[in-house]
Amino acid sequence: MSKVNICDYSDYDYKTEFWTKKNREYEHQLEFKLVNKLLKKYSTNGKSICDAGCGFGRLFESYCHLFSEYHLVDYAKNLLKQAKDIYGMKKNIHFYKQSLYELNISKKADAIISIRTLHHLEDVDQLIKKLYDNLNEGGCLILDIPNHYHIKNKIKRPFSIKKNKIKVSAGYFNYNPQFIIEKIQDSGFNIVDKRQVGLFRVGFIKQIFPPSMLISFEGILNMLLSSFNIGPSVYIVAKKQCG
Ligand SMILES: C[S@@+](CC[C@H](N)C(=O)[O-])C[C@H]1O[C@@H](n2cnc3c(N)ncnc32)[C@H](O)[C@@H]1O
Repeated sequence: MSKVNICDYSDYDYKTEFWTKKNREYEHQLEFKLVNKLLKKYSTNGKSICDAGCGFGRLFESYCHLFSEYHLVDYAKNLLKQAKDIYGMKKNIHFYKQSLYELNISKKADAIISIRTLHHLEDVDQLIKKLYDNLNEGGCLILDIPNHYHIKNKIKRPFSIKKNKIKVSAGYFNYNPQFIIEKIQDSGFNIVDKRQVGLFRVGFIKQIFPPSMLISFEGILNMLLSSFNIGPSVYIVAKKQCG
């Protein structure tokens, strides 16, 4: 079992403080649409999904119509309750108050998503092991990597020596995406897609342009730049190898 600290959201009203009170419609719509698009493309026959670090279920409606069984996991009881209050009546939905370091759902899933969680997780090896163990062979993993070396940092510090893991503040980590990608590959996954996410996470740009326009433009930029790790988030899609 991992000895590292767990970031506890129990006393934090994540939904109100982080989303409702802030201008984050662009980020929300972008992530919602992207998760839906990637699952439609890479988890075509999937029946069950695990949302690992689901929070209050912000992304549930982006995937619920694509699957028939849902495993929602989070360490924070209050956030799980919020998700349960809204979606608890749904058939085949299971809630787990668990740390992702001990992820253990009742039946392996065909898809696992973990969005905005890795920045709280220090023990990457343990996390990847648990994601692997809880996924069916051929299953699809979508992992959001908080990228320390996004375009703004690259411009500010072009010659900085890259570290693999960077502690940004208490309980908050950024990563070198290539380090995470290699770990995922070494753990028995094939990387099948990669996206640069949140390229317009800049206050004044979000005030000028509507989310839909920024999202379309980001899609076009990704056609050209998805192999360069320049986004504040890098989404990777990985398939668990068979046999
Ligand atoms: C920034 S929120 C993201 C929530 C959700 N994925 C979303 O995108 O809206 C991070 C979530 O990770 C959860 N979390 C952090 N560390 C965790 C851990 N070790 N095990 C399980 N959940 C964890 C928090 O409780 C919180 O709900």
